[in-house]
Amino acid sequence: MAKKYIVANWKNHPDSWAEAESILNYIDEHLKGIANQESSLVVCPPFVFLEEVSRVIQLSQLTQKAELGAQDIAINDSISLTGGISGMMLVKLGARYVIIGHSERRWPRGESAGTGESNQIVNLKIKQALADGLIPIVCVGEKDRADDYIKWLKQQVGATFAGLSGDQISRCLIAYEPVWAISTNPDARPDTPESALESISAIRDFLAENHSPADVRILYGGSVTEKNAKDFLSLSEIAGVLVGGASIRKEEFVQIIKQV
Ligand code: PGA
Repeated sequence: MAKKYIVANWKNHPDSWAEAESILNYIDEHLKGIANQESSLVVCPPFVFLEEVSRVIQLSQLTQKAELGAQDIAINDSISLTGGISGMMLVKLGARYVIIGHSERRWPRGESAGTGESNQIVNLKIKQALADGLIPIVCVGEKDRADDYIKWLKQQVGATFAGLSGDQISRCLIAYEPVWAISTNPDARPDTPESALESISAIRDFLAENHSPADVRILYGGSVTEKNAKDFLSLSEIAGVLVGGASIRKEEFVQIIKQV
């Protein structure tokens, strides 16, 4: 079985380092003795906790089991950018992964369309992350299930990965996250594994036809919980899960990790 990725997207939580540390300690405590060669745990805290999380990972048992990821990257390492964090800074902090193009950055909640990151910005960030040696976790997914959502998804994927070689795409993790399924949306519900597979196949086929990558690793994200994680993780076409809300509910998150 190919390795499964469990990615924790903490977003702008928790409120304090004490809480963050207690999540990590709980995971550390409960993963002892579990031989999880089959899975790779990636913890993506907010920027302010990156350095501390990196330290805890290195000093605990988690060093064998968890890796560090950031939630965003500046578009370019060499231009001045107020508020930006460059890829090289992330690398120096010990990050190996970076989430790029999350829907909350593409379409910030409460803002009208067009105020967030375009496909073009996401594309440039992927290129910068790869140049820095980071593994991009690239989020794609439709906003709603209109009749032609697969066509829309292919267009988004096409623009997001424009100009990238097959080799570069093979180095990325792709997270298929239908925006309507993300738990913070009103009326959010997880996608079904069957319907997520349709979208994932469409993404894989599109990239194969246009970029010929040797490998395409696609995760599912959107209201993943301890109840449904196994439904997604047990499918060979799905390389793992990107977990938001449930990743800071420590007891639940450990249950999710144990399902690989
Ligand atoms: P969720 O978030 O698991 O809370 O739905 C996933 C995400 O936004 O990455």
